[in-house]
Amino acid sequence: MPITTCIFDAYGTLFDVAAAARSAASEPGRETFARHWPAIAEKWRLKQLQYTWLRAVTGEHVGFWQVTQDGLDWALEAEGLGDDAELRERLLQLYWELEAYPEVPAMLKALKEAGQHTAILSNGAPDMLDGAVKSAGIGALLDDVLSVESVGIFKPARVVYDLVGQRFGCAPEEVLFVSSNGWDACAAAGYGFNTVWVNRAGDPVDRLPAAPDRQLTDLSGIPDLARG
Ligand code: LAC
Repeated sequence: MPITTCIFDAYGTLFDVAAAARSAASEPGRETFARHWPAIAEKWRLKQLQYTWLRAVTGEHVGFWQVTQDGLDWALEAEGLGDDAELRERLLQLYWELEAYPEVPAMLKALKEAGQHTAILSNGAPDMLDGAVKSAGIGALLDDVLSVESVGIFKPARVVYDLVGQRFGCAPEEVLFVSSNGWDACAAAGYGFNTVWVNRAGDPVDRLPAAPDRQLTDLSGIPDLARG
């Protein structure tokens, strides 16, 4: 079946989640943070994701903004910077204006020119996603921004992937699902989507029931894959 609909994870896939910490580290007066930022960015992301999975398993859902703050608080304390309230506020503020990866606008434009539907499917809350989409200037290249908030559970719950067919009226085999999160790409493959794992770091494939169909190192090859 030809691909009609290209669906993107947001954080880490279209938007560079390390950008908030990297950008804060370059600001004057943040010499201590500059030494810690790579570890803080990594621990922040890891805890943020772990909290989404744990809350999905226990049924104690909160919005992505809450787990983003909880993950940051854990990471700052782990790196000995838990008392720096100003730094915390600055990092959280920057999370609303994350940069898109450089190849994103041209890639989405090529998909739209080829007649594909394009959308985000993300754990992010609608207002957070709106902020990131606006700051990246890619709103006109997306048909929709789908958030897990409409089903009240985080990925990889299958009801989240159901949102794509409900919105676009397409079968899973018509969807190309793109994520930089290996676990998200695996779950989407198990759901029946065609999947691309954008494996920027060259990580091993997650040991999960299904594996992504393809791997790329960035997003520039997506329009070719969508063409089939
Ligand atoms: C998202 C997270 C998983 O955007 O990156 O859904």
